Amino acid sequence: MVGIVLSGGKGTRLYPSTKVISKQLLPIFDKPMIYYPISTLMLGGIREINIITTPEDFNQYKELLLDGSQWGLFFNYLIQEKPDGIAQAFLIAEKFIKGKKVCLILGDNLFYGKLDFFRNAMSNLRSSTIFAYEVDNPKDYGVVVLDKNNKPIKIVEKPQEHISKYAIPGLYLFDERVVEYAKSLTPSERGELEITDLLRIYLENSELDVVLVGRGVAWLDTGTPNNLVEAALFLRAIEQRQGRKIGCLEEIALAQGYVAKDKLFDWISSMPNSEYKNYCLKVLDEY
Ligand code: G1P
Repeated sequence: MVGIVLSGGKGTRLYPSTKVISKQLLPIFDKPMIYYPISTLMLGGIREINIITTPEDFNQYKELLLDGSQWGLFFNYLIQEKPDGIAQAFLIAEKFIKGKKVCLILGDNLFYGKLDFFRNAMSNLRSSTIFAYEVDNPKDYGVVVLDKNNKPIKIVEKPQEHISKYAIPGLYLFDERVVEYAKSLTPSERGELEITDLLRIYLENSELDVVLVGRGVAWLDTGTPNNLVEAALFLRAIEQRQGRKIGCLEEIALAQGYVAKDKLFDWISSMPNSEYKNYCLKVLDEY
């Protein structure tokens, strides 16, 4: 399965912090936001990752993340010229998808907890799978209406009325037909190729599976200044209690066996002295 991290957009709700820095490069507590979605893909066993950014931010992402080999990953950098919608990611990454299954994660989505729900969904993937997560503010998201058997009936982007308590997190699984389906979409009223319109195609063909994500998993939002602080405090509370970092890509690379210890040591040695480097050295010692 090939991964896509979509890190486009202008992050206007975080203005002026996002005036000259891409939203997904802003820190959440002790590392850049985009580390978290990359860590989710890695924990799902995905190593070939397409990173889609705006033309302005492209170089900064490359400088931060390099070619991915330091973590045993393979990155392709692609550009979304304008914020023309999430579903456009599949058109941009078309030639890297080539008959493969795809997992798309949005660059501002942060998951914490046991990721079995994600790994199981990947192994059981039929055509497309989305996740449903109960939230208090469903109107801020794409939502899915479920029947009594938790089968999807309807999908709506940011509904005005309360129609469901289940938001759709920015983590989606698709078979290779996603490119073809994305090509058939037309822009919405706000001028975007909507992910929810794409999901509706699968839904209408009875090819959309929904997995409920329970309370044992935290899905955090990073859209507003308040969300950012809340996410940072959440991560800090857990990291400080356990002395273990969340979303440390070096640690995950080692645990997953993506990279050899001596190669990782060279990479960690090249880091400036910092709390992050000390943590990586500690992890290396444990292996
Ligand atoms: C996007 C999607 C929405 C989804 C959300 C998850 O919204 O359009 O369907 O629920 O991501 O983060 P945005 O955050 O771009 O408003």
